[in-house]
Amino acid sequence: MYGSWEPLKKDCMSCMRCPLGETRTNLVFGVGNENAEVMFVGEGPGEQEDLKGEPFVGRAGQLLDKYLDAIDLDRNKNIYIANMVKCRPPQNRDPKPEEQDECIKWLREQVRLMRPKIIVCLGRISAQRLISPDFRVTQEHGVFFEKNGTLMMGTFHPASLLRNQSQKPLALEDFLKLRDKIREVCERTYED
Ligand code: URA
Repeated sequence: MYGSWEPLKKDCMSCMRCPLGETRTNLVFGVGNENAEVMFVGEGPGEQEDLKGEPFVGRAGQLLDKYLDAIDLDRNKNIYIANMVKCRPPQNRDPKPEEQDECIKWLREQVRLMRPKIIVCLGRISAQRLISPDFRVTQEHGVFFEKNGTLMMGTFHPASLLRNQSQKPLALEDFLKLRDKIREVCERTYED
């Protein structure tokens, strides 16, 4: 258990708990405001993220930024973004359950320090791990669930939106629901 972000990040950055540590260029710890009330959790770094060490900086990330902007969220100001796994799975395959089992320990520490009011799961991998193992994004996107005092919502992964343009209006609706929920339960997110 960590009492602050600095030692947590320092230890995490040298993690070799799973084989993904051997093939990464950079570990992608997370980005944003460590005191934010809203956290987004994706799947794992892709090629661009592995090269830059920041989550969601490739094409999917640019699309994510547009949805964030639509509801006045900004990765450098009022949210935090992390992934289920912090190192790139080779060829962008799904992270294996045993890789997630190791890496979720770091994510849990981030959540424990941040104590977000809302966690948004971007795509199936994080929604099935954090909300429920049988979560179906197409059926349950945009629905808020309460787990241990935190509101959790799953929506489409931005890479999926790039492949399936027809999902885009549904994703926008989810973000608008998120904006309403933030207004309802968050005190600081839209303050400054
Ligand atoms: N996809 C993810 O799930 N996370 C990233 O950081 C980039 C792409």
